[in-house]
Amino acid sequence: MRIIKKEKQIVSQERVSNHGEVYTGEREVNAMLDLVKQETERIDSRFLEPACGTGNFLAEVLERKLLIVALRYSKSQLEYERYAVLAVSSIYGIDILQDNVVECRKRLFDIFNHDYKRFFKGETKGKCGEAIRYILKKNIIWGDALNLKTVERNPQPITFSEWSPVNGNMLKRRDFTFRVLLDHAAVKELPLFSDLGDDVYIPKPVKEYPLINFLKVADIDK
Ligand SMILES: C[S@@+](CC[C@H](N)C(=O)[O-])C[C@H]1O[C@@H](n2cnc3c(N)ncnc32)[C@H](O)[C@@H]1O
Repeated sequence: MRIIKKEKQIVSQERVSNHGEVYTGEREVNAMLDLVKQETERIDSRFLEPACGTGNFLAEVLERKLLIVALRYSKSQLEYERYAVLAVSSIYGIDILQDNVVECRKRLFDIFNHDYKRFFKGETKGKCGEAIRYILKKNIIWGDALNLKTVERNPQPITFSEWSPVNGNMLKRRDFTFRVLLDHAAVKELPLFSDLGDDVYIPKPVKEYPLINFLKVADIDK
């Protein structure tokens, strides 16, 4: 059974005027995601929504990915956790309104938690829930997708973490600024590696972290 999504499309006229806040309906979300159906069902396929609202698109992407995780891995709790973390870690969002960011993170967590409890009785095991919450905090960013900065007293460049699984249970985290990733996307036709002397462009991380067990990823900030 799926969590019923809310169909609220407008919060207030003021927010529509100030921020163009009109949410996409479930039917349109599904029709658009069906255009890239294969990607929405690939557990590690990365999605970024630069004006994510409360996550109408991201929630559906996560549900589709978790369906695949459930089909393949629900017999083993550890395997399920590993791939559920991978699914969540590949979903990114930005919104300029803080309440939307908070709601989007919670909504994605609840989708994960709801599914998890179907297969493994009781609340999400402490460490896995902590890892998911931590990754959502990093991936769903309170920021301005136009000036590429966070929204706070001292705005900082928006930075995304790349989470890559290594040797099963380990995770490699590398942080990139949004600007560098956009520049990379703009010239991505160039080959990453070339032996012909062509220009190549490989985005440089602003920070790299040591390998860590995927369930301990939140320990980085402790
Ligand atoms: C039309 S709504 C779409 C929300 C969601 N993508 C959907 O389809 O349901 C636009 C969203 O963009 C956000 N927004 C407006 N300007 C923004 C900016 N400069 N940077 C990031 N988010 C912005 C608003 O807060 C609002 O949640």
